[in-house]
Amino acid sequence: MSDNRSLAIQYAHNNATRFLDELITFSSISSISTEAKSKPEILQAAEWTANHLRLLGINNVQIFSTPGHPVVYGEWMGAGESAPTALIYGHYDVQPVDPIDLWVTGPFTPEIRGDYIYARGITDMKGQMLVALDAFESISKSGNLPINFKFLFEGEEEIGSPNLAPFLESHKELLRCDFAINPDTGTLAPEIPCITYALRGLAYMELRVFGPDHDLHSGVFGGAIRNPAQALCELIADMHDDQGRVTLPGFYEKVRLIDAAEKAELAQLPIGDEYYLNATGAPALHGENGFTTIERLGVRPTLEINGLLSGFTGDGAKTVLPAWAMAKISTRLVPDQQPSEVYEQMYSFLETHAAKEIRWNLIPMHGGPASISNRNSVYIKALERALETVWHKPSVYKREGGSVPVVLDFQQILGVETVNTGFSMPDDNMHSPNEKLHLPTWYRGIDAFIHFYFNLAE
Ligand code: BES
Ligand code: MN
Repeated sequence: MSDNRSLAIQYAHNNATRFLDELITFSSISSISTEAKSKPEILQAAEWTANHLRLLGINNVQIFSTPGHPVVYGEWMGAGESAPTALIYGHYDVQPVDPIDLWVTGPFTPEIRGDYIYARGITDMKGQMLVALDAFESISKSGNLPINFKFLFEGEEEIGSPNLAPFLESHKELLRCDFAINPDTGTLAPEIPCITYALRGLAYMELRVFGPDHDLHSGVFGGAIRNPAQALCELIADMHDDQGRVTLPGFYEKVRLIDAAEKAELAQLPIGDEYYLNATGAPALHGENGFTTIERLGVRPTLEINGLLSGFTGDGAKTVLPAWAMAKISTRLVPDQQPSEVYEQMYSFLETHAAKEIRWNLIPMHGGPASISNRNSVYIKALERALETVWHKPSVYKREGGSVPVVLDFQQILGVETVNTGFSMPDDNMHSPNEKLHLPTWYRGIDAFIHFYFNLAE
């Protein structure tokens, strides 16, 4: 190992406790982007981020306001014009905490138990943001950074980044770079170094079904009118066929198929059905017929019910015929499906299937298309070598089922490829109670990023 690298790794190890303290401070801020009442904490997280960048000697640090939550920017261009410039992306916002009763310790009082630290947002993605920044610091404070850096941290990822694409459009020059790094994806397990080369997209909507103009006595009126809760359930039941396929008209028309080589490679991934059974606690796995679990999660689109609401759900019994029913429905998309087209497909599905005795309303919420990266880019190869240096084994390549819509925007608006990486794991309880981060992997991630940055200059 060259002297520069070993000095930087040494610096990271010497500062391991402080790095963890900073992660704890950052993760104590309840920056929940979806809740209006968390606006002060969102601003606090943006300010914490900006301040942290300044402490690291990053220049031109700015908090840009947007119609929603602010974007934090900074740059370090000291490696000179001949060196490549990386754009590091991240998000400082987190998901809501409910159901709060199921947390063993408070979501914003990070606690270490065994190899894990627990807090909302710690793995998704405050911990991953700090991996990229701690590696930056370790090199800059022990020697010379080999490449240039720009940093872009948003506060709206968990609500679909509604203001980020316009920000990219209006700041193209500021954000000019050779490639982007997105540490908001994960690995599969502590001993499996992993590179994500595709992310699914998302089209989220809310479906409301209306019947009578007020809640009714189910004895006085039951038998006379169609029940909106049942009508909604029937619609939802019709959205899949008995082969587990989504029945929206045209849903699969643009789905890009994978070739035999990719199919064979996915079959070799060191993770499979048993893992997903254990990680979920479900009695059995289920999905689209004719595809393996890994394929269903990465290369096939899905439709999920995210929430249902109707009628009486309190203690005891109340004989009511509800006036309305509501479902939150999202689809996970693969190349080349378009969120707006999927919304249209849902609309025409409802026109055909909805019972005539109800009225319905379909509200599009956020979304973004899927993305797929060039696996042979020099940037991905630099990451692959870095992971191998730390894990002493080759990386596996995987498609991620989750979504980070900005990756396609980087391709289309900034014209750059993104390296998707990160050290979260499928069983980290992202978006669930007791979200956690595996600390030994987090520390290895910092080492790997140090090597990654050096490799990018070679
Ligand atoms: N970090 C996740 C995406 C992710 C999950 C990557 C699992 C790798 C593994 C990200 O913060 C996220 O949750 N995105 C949302 C998308 C959004 C538009 C609300 C998602 O996937 O639901
Ligand atoms: Mn998330």
